[in-house]
Amino acid sequence: MFISVLLTFSVPQAAQATPVGQRLRDLAAKRGLLIGFAPGFGAVNDPVQAPVIAAEANIFTPENNLKWFCIHPQQNVYDWNRNDPYSCSSADADVKFANDHGMIMHGHVLVWHEGLPAWVMSMSLDQLESVMNDHIDTVVGRYNGSNLAIGRVHVWDVVNEAVTCNGSTCGYRDSIWKQAMGVGSDGVPLFIPKAFQRTHAADPNAVLLYNDGALGEGKPHADFVYNEVKKWLAAGVPINGVGFQMHIDTDFNQFAAFSADLQRFGKLGLDVYITELDVMIPPYQNSQRYTQQAAIYKELMKRCLAQTHCKSFQTWGWTDRWTWLNDSTYGGWPGSDPLLFNECFQPKPAYYAVQEALGGSHPATLMLQAEAYNQGQGVQGAPDAEFLYYVTDGAWIQFNNVNLGSGFTTLKTCYAKGSSDPGSVEVHLGSMTGSIIASFNTQDTGGWNNFQEQATPLTGGTGNQTLVVKFIGSATGNFDDFLLESTQSTPGPFTLQAEKYDEQQGVETYPTFIGFVDNGDWIKFNNVNLGNGFGRLRVGYAKGNKTKTRIEVHVGSLTGPKIAELKTTSTGGWNTFKEKTTPIKGGAGVQTLYFVFAGGDGVGNMDYFTFENPRVTASAVNSAAAAETDNTVDDTSEDAESTSAPSYTIYLPAVSR
Ligand code: XIL
Repeated sequence: MFISVLLTFSVPQAAQATPVGQRLRDLAAKRGLLIGFAPGFGAVNDPVQAPVIAAEANIFTPENNLKWFCIHPQQNVYDWNRNDPYSCSSADADVKFANDHGMIMHGHVLVWHEGLPAWVMSMSLDQLESVMNDHIDTVVGRYNGSNLAIGRVHVWDVVNEAVTCNGSTCGYRDSIWKQAMGVGSDGVPLFIPKAFQRTHAADPNAVLLYNDGALGEGKPHADFVYNEVKKWLAAGVPINGVGFQMHIDTDFNQFAAFSADLQRFGKLGLDVYITELDVMIPPYQNSQRYTQQAAIYKELMKRCLAQTHCKSFQTWGWTDRWTWLNDSTYGGWPGSDPLLFNECFQPKPAYYAVQEALGGSHPATLMLQAEAYNQGQGVQGAPDAEFLYYVTDGAWIQFNNVNLGSGFTTLKTCYAKGSSDPGSVEVHLGSMTGSIIASFNTQDTGGWNNFQEQATPLTGGTGNQTLVVKFIGSATGNFDDFLLESTQSTPGPFTLQAEKYDEQQGVETYPTFIGFVDNGDWIKFNNVNLGNGFGRLRVGYAKGNKTKTRIEVHVGSLTGPKIAELKTTSTGGWNTFKEKTTPIKGGAGVQTLYFVFAGGDGVGNMDYFTFENPRVTASAVNSAAAAETDNTVDDTSEDAESTSAPSYTIYLPAVSR
């Protein structure tokens, strides 16, 4: 058997992403937010990538295609249609793609100390200002909207990473740009105001950003940048916003600092774009850190949505298959799976967490990272390779403490296999000989690096479990991850007749209703299938007194989560039945429901309870630890600011959040 573990990718033949629920760009647009994922070279012409990007993103940032080394390879030579199989593809094609799909085009980047071709690096310093001016004039001028056939760049990263810190000592980076143009009397390198002014002149309508790392992460970097940006504004630099790169990992917990940074830059009159977010899973993490990752994405999204000047939420790349962090040169961990889509181009728990934060519904999901099993035999790749490989016949891996909640219905396995020899996978509950909850034969995916997702039904198993995955056959595959999804269908609206309870306490039972319902009484229904959840409860009841009473609906036990509460008010008589509705929040799967009556005597004569408005999906991404930090930011601690950014127009629906 030949198994290649080299990361040379053949042309993907994978099926397109099939996310459940509404697309992120539709949800984001309703909240007045831009969302996107800097795709790599070639993405817009790739039949697998282009449709996902067009469907999900309303802002487009080329990862490299607008950098100097792509578009300005020689002095006075601009190439708008690069077709280099390893790094650059056409900048024009990116701009056109974004424009054609109604996306905001975000140009990255005009003045940076990296991404420069050799000719710039070897240029004499006294020529660099005119080289920079020519570059800005040509590039920004090309895409300023004066030629709509070419297309428009709406937002520019004008200056990138001009600041660097050594511990808590921060200062301006000693770049060639700083060396060439010198430093002003206020300590600001002159290339910064010059670059912004030049860009503004070439496109007075574009949104101009300063982009940098370590902003929003509770690091000294942010204080320095903040103070310097204030100086720029005071000096009249035409800057509209700040880009927070946010290359972070699953240990991230600086949420309060994130909110505080959003707020203080906002108070300067600036917008904030989250430009390069990725949340790495370090190799030493356990198999379930996808849950933690999802919680971080969700919390950042919630906090961005909470401040109207947080305009954009962008990840650096879109699929874990191609991310700059798979290259350890950049300090990344290969296989740290930092993005919203997995190696198989399918949405991860992080995707659904973002979807939920944007107000959409989503399936319950849990993702296990194959190579981060708790115990195993006959496999290689743990814990820090990108995936599990050399999977021998009879090999197995075990995951401890997997919370199956109220049960999952689908297993989606992302694997690659370069052979047509038979191989199969079994998922056992509890131990290697425990019951099989999912099994499937693996297929040739067209190569040992060509990951594809295979879905198979999952039946049985709730609550905390040990899962053992067994591999049968000498050519099972290379395994990246296992996604457990709850895609059970929600039944149509249904009605529980009050008098048909399974158990009760304290009520009187009549042929068509229950009466003498007082504080502390309850009725219980077993095995109620809530599917992926319902949105509204309709109650038929009669009440002849004015006592302040209520009905609470609890899941699992009398004190389990409360999914609905209805205040009962007089209907005008104990025989005058009326309907009243209340929202249902949470609750999915097959459940025991308790209707608990509270508040006093005579809660009402209860006739029926109708569950209606099925939710598309279930209750919660298994959102664990991370998210529960303080959401408040001290409003009074900031100085009153007098400087403020120039105004500009951006083509976003005006929605107040
Ligand atoms: C990275 C790209 O992702 C790589 O493909 C390239 O080789 C180097 O640059 N901050 C930035 C981005 O502003 O331009 C960098 O992009 C990632 C860090």
